Amino acid sequence: PIMLSQTKFIQRDKLNYPFEERGLQFGDGVYEVIRIYSGNYYLLNEHITRLFRSAEAVKINLPFTKEEISSLLMDLLKENNVTTDAKVYLQATRGSAPRDHVFPLDVAANVYAYVQPLPRNVELLGSGVSTITHRDTRWENCYIKSLNLLPNVLAKQEAKEQGCYEAILHKDGFVTECSASNVYLVKDGAIHTHPIRKNILHGCVRISVEKFANDLKIPFMENGFSIEDIGAADELFLTSSTSEIMPIIQVDGNLVADGKPGNITKQLQTEYERDAH
Ligand code: PDD
Repeated sequence: PIMLSQTKFIQRDKLNYPFEERGLQFGDGVYEVIRIYSGNYYLLNEHITRLFRSAEAVKINLPFTKEEISSLLMDLLKENNVTTDAKVYLQATRGSAPRDHVFPLDVAANVYAYVQPLPRNVELLGSGVSTITHRDTRWENCYIKSLNLLPNVLAKQEAKEQGCYEAILHKDGFVTECSASNVYLVKDGAIHTHPIRKNILHGCVRISVEKFANDLKIPFMENGFSIEDIGAADELFLTSSTSEIMPIIQVDGNLVADGKPGNITKQLQTEYERDAH
């Protein structure tokens, strides 16, 4: 029930922002979702690095250093006696001020973070998930983990309404990522994914996948792939802090290869379990 607000701990129901809050009125803020296994953070430094990159890109001044937020986030787990699998949601907005597109003067960022239990989805990780394809209608700066998630929300909802888990986004025929995860195609023993550019989120789990691929001597090729390539894929999978390494077994009603999670995907899942525990 205890959350972090700015740099102190409060009860959840004690957080009260005015309605004129720039996160609420403009989506003027950035966020992170960080995974916890058995009470320990996974990829904490990677998430903090990205938080600072996002905040800097939109000129939000965070009221702490990387070291300070790291230790505050550690204390958040202690305050809540977290010993199980969980996730932390952290957001930082430009602050509270009368509504005006122009930045307010001398207003401090609003920051909060809270922890929620999140059991691993062992069943889906074993069976794999179905997906749809969906046009990527987002802006050019998706490397910023901004609160403006309406295109992502609409794509994910479309997937849900079609009985699917995720939407694979594509622009001009090329696959960028999913609505809330990165996506990879396996063909002839190599992993292909969109290069690190401004138009995708640089996933923390993606950093792990590249490391595991190097350890396993599986080529990790940042050359992207097209919607057409999916038809000839050997394997497809997605990654995120909440989904981990998730096999994709169906796209727009068509099976991926034989419709079962692939071998390389399973090897990466094994490496992930070892790394995260
Ligand atoms: N989503 N791409 C997008 C658009 C995302 O929103 C996410 C994460 C990722 C994967 O990033 P990471 O590996 O660092 O979790 C890729 C989080 C989990 C969310 O919005 O809930």
